Amino acid sequence: MSVAKRDLENRKVTTRRLIEMKQRGEKISMLTAYDYSMAQLIDQAGMDVILVGDSASNVMAGNVTTLPITLDQMIYHGKSVMKAVKRALVVVDLPFGTYQGNSKEALASAIRVMKETHADCIKLEGGSEIRESIERILCAGIPVMGHLGLTPQSINKFGTYTVRAREEEEAQKLIDDAHLLEEIGCFALVLEKIPAELAKRVASEVSIPVIGIGAGNGVDGQVLVMHDMLGINQGFSPRFLRRYANLAEEITRAVQEYIEDVKTQDFPNEKESY
Ligand code: KIV
Repeated sequence: MSVAKRDLENRKVTTRRLIEMKQRGEKISMLTAYDYSMAQLIDQAGMDVILVGDSASNVMAGNVTTLPITLDQMIYHGKSVMKAVKRALVVVDLPFGTYQGNSKEALASAIRVMKETHADCIKLEGGSEIRESIERILCAGIPVMGHLGLTPQSINKFGTYTVRAREEEEAQKLIDDAHLLEEIGCFALVLEKIPAELAKRVASEVSIPVIGIGAGNGVDGQVLVMHDMLGINQGFSPRFLRRYANLAEEITRAVQEYIEDVKTQDFPNEKESY
C-alpha cells in the first residue's frame, strides 16, 4: 500500500467518511467498547466505529436490561474509551430516560456527553416518537445515529427480545421511521434484529449508512457487542451472533493456573522476586 493510501486509511473516521464508505460500497465495521484498554486494542485493530453502548448496563454492570444505566455512568465509560481512541468514530448511547418525552432534557443530555466525553456523536433509540428530541440535538450541531427495530430500552413495552417488524404494519412503520431519520438529518442508522429482506430494503432506500445487528448481510455495515463476539459473555447465543474467540475459556484457564501456582508456591519464582 502506498504511503498516501496508508495515511488516508489512518486518518480519523468521521460521519462524512461513513457516508462516503456507503457510496463506495465499502462495508463499515462497528463494535462496542466501554473501557480504555479494550478500546485501545479495538481501535488499533482498525475498527471503523466504536460504540459506547448502553449494553454496558448488561455486560459491565450486570443488570438484566439496559434501563438502569445512568447518564453519569455512560459518561464515565465514554471518557475512558475516548482516552484510548485515535482513529475510530466514537458513538455514545444516550441512556433510557435522558431524552424521551422532553427535547430540552434530550439536548442537555447530549451536550453533557459531548462536553464531558469528547465523543464524536450520540445514538438514541426510536423514530417519530422522539423526532423533536433528535431535531433539537441536531440543531446544536451534534451528530445523531438512530436505532430502530429491536430497541432494548423499550423491552418492557414489547416484553420480548424476538425478531421485530415481521408483520406488515410494524415493517411499514420502521421504513417510514428510517426515511424520517434520514430526512431530519441523522448521519446513520442501526437496525437491530429485523428480517434481512426488510433491512436490505431500508439500506437501499436511504442514503445514510445502515448498520445491522441481526439484520442480515444487505446493509452497509455490522455491529456486535464486544463481550458476545469475544466469547466473554457465555450465556447469550442468539442466531445472529458469530463468536470470534472463546475468551471465557481462556480467562478461566489462566486464572485457574494462577491460583494453582499461588497455592503450590510455584509463583513467584526467584526470577520474579527482588
Ligand atoms: O448498546 C448497544 O450495545 C447497542 C448495540 C446492540 C447496537 O445499542
